[in-house]
Amino acid sequence: MARKNTTARGATPSKATTRSNTMWGGRYARGPAEIMERINASIGFDRRLYQQDIAGSLAHCDMLVKRGILTAKDGRAIKRGLAQVREEIEAGRFKFSTRLEDIHFNVEARLTELIGPAGGRLHTARSRNDQIALDVRLWVRDTIDRLEAMLADLQAALIDRAEEYAATIMPGFTHLQTAQPITFGHHLLAYVEMVGRDRSRLRDCRARLNESPLGAAALAGSPHPIDPRQTARALGFDRPMANSLDAVSDRDYVVEFIGAASLIAVHLSRLSEEIVIWCSAPFRFITLSDAFTTGSSIMPQKRNPDAAELTRAKVGRIVGAFVALCTVLKGLPLTYGKDMQEDKEPLFDAADSLELGVAATTGMVRDLKANPERMRAVAAADYSVATDLADWLVRKVGLPFRQAHHVTGRLVGIAAAKGVDLDKLTLAEMQAVEPKIDRGVFGVLTVEASVNARKSLGGTAPVNVARAVQDARRRFLGRNR
Ligand code: ARG
Repeated sequence: MARKNTTARGATPSKATTRSNTMWGGRYARGPAEIMERINASIGFDRRLYQQDIAGSLAHCDMLVKRGILTAKDGRAIKRGLAQVREEIEAGRFKFSTRLEDIHFNVEARLTELIGPAGGRLHTARSRNDQIALDVRLWVRDTIDRLEAMLADLQAALIDRAEEYAATIMPGFTHLQTAQPITFGHHLLAYVEMVGRDRSRLRDCRARLNESPLGAAALAGSPHPIDPRQTARALGFDRPMANSLDAVSDRDYVVEFIGAASLIAVHLSRLSEEIVIWCSAPFRFITLSDAFTTGSSIMPQKRNPDAAELTRAKVGRIVGAFVALCTVLKGLPLTYGKDMQEDKEPLFDAADSLELGVAATTGMVRDLKANPERMRAVAAADYSVATDLADWLVRKVGLPFRQAHHVTGRLVGIAAAKGVDLDKLTLAEMQAVEPKIDRGVFGVLTVEASVNARKSLGGTAPVNVARAVQDARRRFLGRNR
């Protein structure tokens, strides 16, 4: 049966299916069926929680000693033993066993091997139910902290490039049709705002999850004189959870985290899609270097933006994890159910995929090189300054906007029929449509004039972008440069 167990990768499977479980041998005469062991074991993936598990045990141990539930001597032995277990895991010397099911039993069994019966006292006033609730909470919290820093770095990259391209003109699209000229810096700063909301969603999730489930024990609390406030404080939580049943059955924070992760992935997929489009031959707005493209095995000319495509696709597994988790929790009666063990693989996969996607996106943003001539040429095509003409008619001729729109439409029609841009029409041709038009109109018919004029709050003018860059540094990175 070696290696058949896909859910317990790398763990040593037990041969003796008749051997009684060491952890509940009192009630059990026989061990589990092979298939029982395989479906039940989580050590193949929850070994990832070893740091959190040991941190929780250390805090629990201190509390038991402080409350006189454990002797100081046992407490010292337990802490020494746990430190050694951590060392063995980190050095890759620890032998994980599928027979011991999960990270909690694996750590406890080795601890007892190392320090004797005192190891068995650590589980006083605790259950694997509050233990796993704690471990996953701590893991999500650590992951949120790491991700938030990575997202801040992505913002820093976007802001730096926005500063560089503050006055670089590109076409702004709606419906992916040329709409109005914008600046590339302005476009990049739009993502800085999105990522800012993503970070704030992660912080919200962190604030809500930051309560300790320890002390709930199996589900109903403990008859021992424990102090859940102490363990909560020691582990950096704001407070213990108020209801023991909720403490062991709540996985809201996993759902919230994956929900926030899904939206981040959606945002990354939009930027990735734009990168793919911008790199394509018909666009040629940007190039990615060798470091962020791949070649083709058959077409020597190819430079494929694989990192962008993969980031665009990662959202599939992250949203998949969200659906998986909500489906697992739906209709689950209080309190703990083994169903909850199924939260981990989707959670880990979503978090790993997202971290890869964020890092790849940050890399591409730092790597990309714009092609300003090409961007400007496309921005100037397709009558992108038509709105500027209509706005000029409103301001200088006093036409109602609706009528100005109509006049401009006719002029665009005439220019299109001649195959020229608006600024290549003669004054006479324009006056034939609207007699009050004068030479001044030519001042608004360039893409530079168009972007420079858009100085309204949040608008695309280069002066705005330069200021927005400074603002963004202050708001999101807490620095002035
Ligand atoms: N491996 C379990 C999980 O991930 C740990 C908790 C098990 N508790 C229990 N009573 N079987 O959910």
